[in-house]
Amino acid sequence: MFIVDVFEAIRTRRSIRKFRPKPIPDEKLEMILEAGRLAPSAGNRQPWRFVVVKDPERKRALAKAADNQMFIADASVIIVALGDPEASPRWFRQDPMIAVEHMVLAATALGYGTCWIGAFSEDRVKRILRIPEGLKVITLLPIGFPDEAPAPRERKKLKEIIFLEKYGNLPEHSISNCISIS
Ligand SMILES: Cc1cc2nc3c(=O)[nH]c(=O)nc-3n(C[C@H](O)[C@H](O)[C@H](O)COP(=O)(O)O)c2cc1C
Repeated sequence: MFIVDVFEAIRTRRSIRKFRPKPIPDEKLEMILEAGRLAPSAGNRQPWRFVVVKDPERKRALAKAADNQMFIADASVIIVALGDPEASPRWFRQDPMIAVEHMVLAATALGYGTCWIGAFSEDRVKRILRIPEGLKVITLLPIGFPDEAPAPRERKKLKEIIFLEKYGNLPEHSISNCISIS
């Protein structure tokens, strides 16, 4: 089994927008879902639910509801992350997002590709999946066998985004070198 450590997964992950038509074995899917289940949440409230979509017609409907991003229908599975504002009025968005990022890294470690999907019509997704009124759709996560190997996208340098102690205090040169993992 192809498994990499967490830094390797963070370093090598890319948004994948082309998938091979090959299903992910259920035991691997379960490992990915388990990584989400173990994520932290405010007060351990776990205000999340995840709908696992494998049906080709339903995946196509979701792709259309996601601004016609049809590549997501080619993924083996689409995980639709939901937040429950009643269970956690302040953190119902952050918590599912953390769980989804756990799933992203687990999927990467297992050799699968993912892409966060933030552009979608919440109403349409809710209708397609019969999601109860009170729940919010947080993100869609297609997962599958990658059929592309995109180059890394540019990131801001640590020195552009990190301050020491107070906003605006630039870190020592040596500190920013230390933190970098790339
Ligand atoms: C909250 C969020 C929403 C996103 N929504 C979409 C989307 O709807 N469609 C898409 O193709 N990529 C989407 N992306 C992927 C970003 O475009 C991608 O992460 C970014 O360009 C950096 O590329 P990389 O993930 O390959 O490093 C989203 C990413 C995030 C974090």
